Amino acid sequence: MLVTGSAGYIGSHAALRLLEDGHEVLGLDHYGRGNRGATEVLRSFERFDFIELDLRDHDALVTALRERPVDAVLHFAALAYVGESVTVPLDYYDHNTAGTVSLLRAIAATGVSKFVFSSTCATYGEPDAEHIPIRESTPQQPINPYGRSKWMVERILEDFADSEQAPDDFRFALLRYFNVAGSDPECRVGEDHDPETHLVPVCLDAARGRRNTLTIFGTDYDTPDGTCIRDYVHVVDLVDAHVAVLSALQPGERRAYNVGTGRGFSVREVMAACREVTGVDFPVSEGPRRAGDPPTLYSDPTLIRTELGWEPKRPDLRTMVEDAWRWRETHPEGYRD
Ligand code: UFG
Repeated sequence: MLVTGSAGYIGSHAALRLLEDGHEVLGLDHYGRGNRGATEVLRSFERFDFIELDLRDHDALVTALRERPVDAVLHFAALAYVGESVTVPLDYYDHNTAGTVSLLRAIAATGVSKFVFSSTCATYGEPDAEHIPIRESTPQQPINPYGRSKWMVERILEDFADSEQAPDDFRFALLRYFNVAGSDPECRVGEDHDPETHLVPVCLDAARGRRNTLTIFGTDYDTPDGTCIRDYVHVVDLVDAHVAVLSALQPGERRAYNVGTGRGFSVREVMAACREVTGVDFPVSEGPRRAGDPPTLYSDPTLIRTELGWEPKRPDLRTMVEDAWRWRETHPEGYRD
C-alpha cells in the first residue's frame, strides 16, 4: 500500500492501521507540513518503508514505484487550510491538483489499479438549507481554492478512469471528509499541525495555557446558538472507512462517500466539550466571522453505512476530545517530545 502524506495527521493514522492489519506500507512525504516524528513511529514496523519525496517530482516518483510496486494508493498528501488557500491559491493548485496529476501519471506508468482519494466536504461549498444534511448528490460548488483544488482532482479522476491512460482494472473511491478530530487512543501518532488552526486542538491549547487568545469566529450565524455547525468524525473511524472501501472496490468501479457521523455540533458546543474534558474553564472572546466559513455543514452518512456497512465506533464528540487531549497531554510539544 502506498500512503502519500504518511507523516501528516490522517496519513500517519492510516499507515499505522494498515501496518497493524499486516500490510506492507510504503510511505511518502516531503515534510512540507508532515512530521518526521510520525515517520519514526511508523519505522518501528519492519513492513514500513519510506521515501522522502515530493509528488511533483514525477521522475523520482515513477522510479520509486518501479522499485517498489504497490497494489493500492491512499492519497492523503495535500495542503489543507481554507484561509491559506485564498492567500496562496497557486500553491494549492500546485500541491493538491498538479501533485495528484503527477501521481496519476506514475500510476499509469506502473499499473497501480486501486486509488482512494482524500476529498473534502469543502467541495460542496455553502449548500442551501434544503441540501443539509449533505448527501453525495448535493451539488458541488466549492467556494475557496482549497475546495476547488480537491474538486478538480475528483473530476480528473473521472476523466482518467474513462481513458486509455488508466490501467485496465483501475478503480477509485472519493472520500469526502467532514471535520476530522481525535487521535490514536494509544497516542502513538496524533495531531501536530504548525500552524494549528483547527477548533479542537486550539481549544485544548487554550486549556493548557499555550494560547492566550481563543476567538469564536462569528456569533451571528443563522444557527441555534449563532455559531457555525460542523460534523466531527474521529480520525480512527475515518481510517476505518478507507479500509472498508479498499476491500469493497471492484475493478472498474468508482465510488464517492461522505465520511461524517451525521451530527452537527456548534462552535460553542465543541468549546463546552473541551472545557468538560480538560476541567479548565479557558477564556473565550467573540469575534467577527472568518472569511469562507459556511454556517452549517453536516453529512448524511446513509450511503457509506448502507453500501460499506461503515459505522463510526467513536461518534461521541467527547470521545474525540478525550483522545485528542490524551495525545496533547502525553506530547506537550507534539512530536518534538
Ligand atoms: N473556529 C473558531 N475559532 C477558532 C478556530 C475555529 O471559532 O479559533 C470555528 C470556525 O470558524 C469553524 C469551526 O470552528 O466554524 C471549525 O473550524 P476548523 O478550522 O476546525 O475547521 P473548518 O470547518 O474550517 O475546516 C474543516 C477542515 C478543512 C475543510 C473544511 C470544510 O479542516 O480541511 O472543514 O469546510 F476544508
